[in-house]
Amino acid sequence: MSETRTFKVWRGDNGDGELVDYKVEVNEGEVVLDILHRLQATEAPDMAVRWNCKAGKCGSCSVEINGQPKLACMCRMSTFEDGEEITVTPLRTFPVIRDLVCDVSYNYEKARQIPSFTPDPDLEPGEMRMQQADVERPQEFRKCIECFLCNNVCHVIRDHEENKEHFSGPRFLMRATELEMHPEDTADRRMIAQDEFGLGYCNITKCCTEVCPENIKITDNALIPLKERVADRRYDPLVWLGSKIGLR
Ligand code: SF4
Ligand code: F3S
Ligand code: FES
Repeated sequence: MSETRTFKVWRGDNGDGELVDYKVEVNEGEVVLDILHRLQATEAPDMAVRWNCKAGKCGSCSVEINGQPKLACMCRMSTFEDGEEITVTPLRTFPVIRDLVCDVSYNYEKARQIPSFTPDPDLEPGEMRMQQADVERPQEFRKCIECFLCNNVCHVIRDHEENKEHFSGPRFLMRATELEMHPEDTADRRMIAQDEFGLGYCNITKCCTEVCPENIKITDNALIPLKERVADRRYDPLVWLGSKIGLR
């Protein structure tokens, strides 16, 4: 059964743009990305929208739908009220290239700043040993599809462009946690997470966790444990004593 719905889609570039109204056909079982594709195929062939897998796995189609950060390919039209207008806008935290496509290079720059896995150089191939618990704990973090909805929604950078330089966002603080939890990683990432990646800016609002399409418990399982490890390091009496006598 098909019906006609009103879509308001943001059209323009970083400097200038507006919401444009479209009346568009919607069929049973469709998602918002289907409707955007129908618009491209009919009345808006030049509309820019980024997508790839259409299965919630590539993280490309992140947009804001009625103000909520979502994957367009996983947002079912049946979740809206009858007659409800649907507004689709680009992610607010990143600069718009055109229409619904943003420049998310901030995220790739932050990814490059996280020191990579650093095993003991004296370990020979086959000598690395891990407990099953250490394998399972960060497994959840590896479900990340890099949609950057978490970074987009975090108030630390959403409304404060000036914080971007000093804040890696929940996605990459979670990456720092994943490496910090690795028993064979020799780097100590706790103080750089605090001092360089902006862990202290996070006041545990949990908005990142709420929007994660992979249901990763970013705050509870990554950010809070990392904060606890930083506190352990900072208030460890041996570390304090070592810093006083110049050993640490
Ligand atoms: Fe997306 Fe979740 Fe990964 Fe953040 S942690 S980038 S919301 S999948
Ligand atoms: Fe931001 Fe998530 Fe912390 S939304 S404030 S990183 S809990
Ligand atoms: Fe791949 Fe939506 S198109 S996650």
